[in-house]
Amino acid sequence: MSTPKKILIVGGSGFVGTQLAKYLSRKYPVVCTYRNDFTPVPGVDHVGFNGIQDKDRCTSLTQHHHPDVVVFAAGSNDPGKAEKESAQSQLIHLTGANQMLTATEYLKAKYIYLSSDWVFSGMEGNFAESDTAIPFHALGKTKLGAENYIRSRSLNHIIVRCAPLLGRGTLDHPSWLDRLREAAAFQKPVALSDRSIHNPVHVRELSTLIERVIEGDVRNKTLHLGGLTRISEFDLAMEIFKKFGFDSKGLSRLKAGSDSTFQDYSLNTTQTLKLLKTEPLFLEQSLDLL
Ligand SMILES: NC(=O)c1ccc[n+]([C@@H]2O[C@H](COP(=O)([O-])OP(=O)(O)OC[C@H]3O[C@@H](n4cnc5c(N)ncnc54)[C@H](OP(=O)(O)O)[C@@H]3O)[C@@H](O)[C@H]2O)c1
Repeated sequence: MSTPKKILIVGGSGFVGTQLAKYLSRKYPVVCTYRNDFTPVPGVDHVGFNGIQDKDRCTSLTQHHHPDVVVFAAGSNDPGKAEKESAQSQLIHLTGANQMLTATEYLKAKYIYLSSDWVFSGMEGNFAESDTAIPFHALGKTKLGAENYIRSRSLNHIIVRCAPLLGRGTLDHPSWLDRLREAAAFQKPVALSDRSIHNPVHVRELSTLIERVIEGDVRNKTLHLGGLTRISEFDLAMEIFKKFGFDSKGLSRLKAGSDSTFQDYSLNTTQTLKLLKTEPLFLEQSLDLL
């Protein structure tokens, strides 16, 4: 029997990283990096790492753990945060991702980069992998910069553009859903956009995709991950409140600016489903997994 592949998750203490670690550790040895705090996951090793922008420290991390697969799950998917803290956002999503790629290349390991639907313009929606990405937001621009660098440098990579991912985070790294539930529990007001459309999906789908990519040794592809339902943030929150029986009194629509039009960032996932032989999920199915 061959030895199971070893996985290193950079940003493994975050919402997505923790969910991936829980799932993948059933089958593979998993090491996660954290910078500040982490919630222990049985069978998973956590290592402190605060050198994402430093090539030598990235190299010594990978040389020490010798992974077969590196998943880059550091950073945040909040476009507002990327706009406000643009230098920090570039440092993680672009410089950090690039340094970690170089460190991964020395080992000839597979590099999996988590990108986002924010790389698209939001003009039409249902974006396929072959569509030209023209980002309007700082987060999308930074993610696209990293994608282009990875494509031009790596011979063994996968880029996964994810729609918003639904699931429970941890106390130290709550997910969007956790923050929404907390607001509901403490009756805090929440204003959300009803003009920005995505096709969210449960985070388990990302874990399944990564497992299939590793098992099938799929390489040098950009894959889209999302659900079958296109919905605004506001309507999604309403669905979640209904599902959990929360009072939606505190929920309101974000006031639209005078130039605000509908933007659809939804991803077409046909190619991914065909390649990995997976079934797409409707929103109700993703909510049932929560
Ligand atoms: N959540 C989604 O719906 C979604 C959708 C599409 C794509 N993604 C992508 O998935 C990735 C993870 O998102 P998330 O929701 O899991 O975010 P998160 O919960 O905020 O976790 C972020 C992780 O990155 C680490 N990190 C942040 N800055 C760092 C730095 N300078 N050096 C080293 N590590 C650093 C954090 O560690 P510390 O907290 O200890 O600093 C944490 O482990 C992001 O790249 C995001 O764009 C997420």
